[in-house]
Amino acid sequence: MSPAKILLVDDDEGLRKVIEFNLEQEGYEVVTASNGKDALKLYAEHSPDLVITDIKMPDMDGIELLGEIRRRDIEKLVVVVTAFGAVETAIEAMKLGAYDYITKPFNRDELKLVVRKALEVQKLRSRTRMLEAELIDRFSFESIIGGSARMAEVFELVRRIAPSQATVLIKGESGTGKELIARAIHYNSPRSKGDYVAVNCSAIPESLLESELFGHKRGAFTGAIADKVGKFELASGGTIFLDEVADLRFDLQAKLLRVLQEKEIERVGDPRPIKVDIRVIAATNKDLEAMLAEGTFREDLYHRINVVPIMLPPLRARTDDVPLLAHHFKSKFGEADCRIEPDALAALNEYPWPGNVRELENVIERSLLLRKTPERLTADDLPDHVRGHRALQPDSLFHIPEEGIKLEEVEKQFLLYSLQKHGWNQTRAAKFLGITRQALIYRMDKYGLKDEKGDAGK
Ligand SMILES: Nc1ncnc2c1ncn2[C@@H]1O[C@H](COP(=O)(O)OP(=O)(O)OP(=O)(O)O)[C@@H](O)[C@H]1O
Ligand SMILES: [Mg+2]
Repeated sequence: MSPAKILLVDDDEGLRKVIEFNLEQEGYEVVTASNGKDALKLYAEHSPDLVITDIKMPDMDGIELLGEIRRRDIEKLVVVVTAFGAVETAIEAMKLGAYDYITKPFNRDELKLVVRKALEVQKLRSRTRMLEAELIDRFSFESIIGGSARMAEVFELVRRIAPSQATVLIKGESGTGKELIARAIHYNSPRSKGDYVAVNCSAIPESLLESELFGHKRGAFTGAIADKVGKFELASGGTIFLDEVADLRFDLQAKLLRVLQEKEIERVGDPRPIKVDIRVIAATNKDLEAMLAEGTFREDLYHRINVVPIMLPPLRARTDDVPLLAHHFKSKFGEADCRIEPDALAALNEYPWPGNVRELENVIERSLLLRKTPERLTADDLPDHVRGHRALQPDSLFHIPEEGIKLEEVEKQFLLYSLQKHGWNQTRAAKFLGITRQALIYRMDKYGLKDEKGDAGK
């Protein structure tokens, strides 16, 4: 292993020589600078593992240098050297992110200890980062993360069926990753060179959906000013993903059935059949079986698309995946170096994630943006409702910290608990608390409580 590299900055030549000598005796590689400007140049050239800088220097002082270095690399450990009696400057430096300080005059052992400790921390940090990346790599398929047994089964199934032509039905609550799985199937199939065409059956107005899917002939209806190629034709040679298939109108369900059986379509207003070579992947977050019973989804179509069902479990049923996903999203948002503290992970693990992975992704993004310290994400940085959920496990509601608690905080937490317990239904939450709905709304307003999913007030 190559020796750790230290950048040493001090305008006092005598002291610089002594420290340099001592560090080299310990087997470190040392580069030295006598001022901040040179230090930054050397920093860029050598990317040292640790920076030791004097605080009082002409031109750019140690504090400024510290700021510059942390702007380049927030994780870089900087040890500052302060004069005896200048504790305030040391404290200021620590506030600005210095890792440690040594006071002049110091002896060799002190220096040795501080440096060794700093380098160990540095090593540990990069090791944690590597392990995180390795874990995520090991427990993912394409860029789909999942270390839980249930996701391992899903990945295995996807690997097995992707190369076939089989129609796939992906089921799962909103935000569980249905679209990701659909893409993974397409890109791991022999059709990957063809197009992947996604249609959201619930997002397109009913009146347009038929022509979107099947295309139309010019003049087929008012507004059809030119021939239009539909999604099925576009997907020919590739894969068509029918998202929210349960929302397909009953008469279109019959047409879809025909495409699946005959592998041909007709454009609206044109009776000539057109051959299409497609694979269909459908997805839904609805209970199709219940819709069969109600008669709102065709049984024959159901059997046609349910050839290979893939069930994506909700996130609350695979909490093993929560930390992996949290780390994955942290890196995705360019914050790989920020540490997620155990208290934050615990809160994330306990929250039930009604919006599944999508909600987790949003929570991580937002908490990273608003976090109080650059190098860590703590439970405090999480949105109230996520953090609150943990504090509000009913028995911990009654846990009063030794140092006391503000009455207002108790009220706020109780309100939050009651609202969450009743799915943010104000009438029921108010009844639960024995107050009027108006009184509840007043308090929600006072404490800024609102449903994160945005439907507060129903
Ligand atoms: N296992 C996973 N690993 C990484 N990212 C994931 C995973 N599952 C979901 N995501 C991310 O979560 C978000 C939601 O996923 P996706 O759109 O596939 O869900 P969905 O099941 O189709 O949801 P909806 O039913 O609301 O359409 C996306 O940003 C996706 O990248
Ligand atoms: Mg989707």
